[in-house]
Amino acid sequence: MPLEFDILTLFPEMFEGAFRAGIIRRAVEAGLVQVRVHALRAYGVGRHQVTDDAPYGGGGGMVMKPEPIFAAVEDILGLEPVEDLRAVDLPSRFRAEGVSVVLLSPQGKVLTQALARDLARRRRLVLICGRYEGVDERVRQFLVTDEVSIGDYVLSGGEFAAMVLVDVVTRLIPGALGDPGATFEDSFAEGLLEYPHYTRPAVFRGVGVPEVLLSGNHAAIVRWRRQESLRRTWQRRPDLLRQARLSAEDRAFLDSLQAEGKPGEGEGRPEVE
Ligand code: 6GU
Repeated sequence: MPLEFDILTLFPEMFEGAFRAGIIRRAVEAGLVQVRVHALRAYGVGRHQVTDDAPYGGGGGMVMKPEPIFAAVEDILGLEPVEDLRAVDLPSRFRAEGVSVVLLSPQGKVLTQALARDLARRRRLVLICGRYEGVDERVRQFLVTDEVSIGDYVLSGGEFAAMVLVDVVTRLIPGALGDPGATFEDSFAEGLLEYPHYTRPAVFRGVGVPEVLLSGNHAAIVRWRRQESLRRTWQRRPDLLRQARLSAEDRAFLDSLQAEGKPGEGEGRPEVE
């Protein structure tokens, strides 16, 4: 059964092309995922299909109205409209059925590889793209199962965040990454940043490739890659080291880096032989 994504947005045109290339396109074609984009406007209130309104209490900006969002999610999931929101616990019902109704907003839980893994286990993900100053609180309270942010910066709306979420979750679906033999070690799944990569030519504009990679000594290459991965993580994202699974040898190497001291500004450039 494919994982189903339903994206609810005021700007469906933003998604044109986003899923038509690369891994996501392949996953769709392989029947591993389905992605549907729904125009929230179609569920707007009245002849003018209104989707937003001024905030109660005054102040600037506009707030997304609850009616179109509830109507759209009920339509997408094939539910009867709920008369009184206090009478049923929709979020609990959704969770029990493997459905997540995700509100993309800067107030959400920050998307991590761990959260993505969790979301990848669901049957169906309905993604609500927030806009304007925000969304009527009753949506959050009575409809949404998860609220997700993609990081500590401000986007104009949840659309790009929804694209990120679809990408991150799709690559976790078994079979989505093609070559199933090689267990793909992406940086965050492994908990460390990647080691430096090189390909042909062996010398490019005077700059060569680390000798060990040309040595044919597989054990030495594995060791070098592990150490460079540790070095890069130690330099750029030391916070990740606390959660990483490290061997005694890893720890000894990190201790040796610590003893040498971190390179200062301008010393980050690799040495050239
Ligand atoms: Cl999900 N939405 C908006 N508007 N801004 C964000 C975000 C989401 N995640 C990070 N910044």
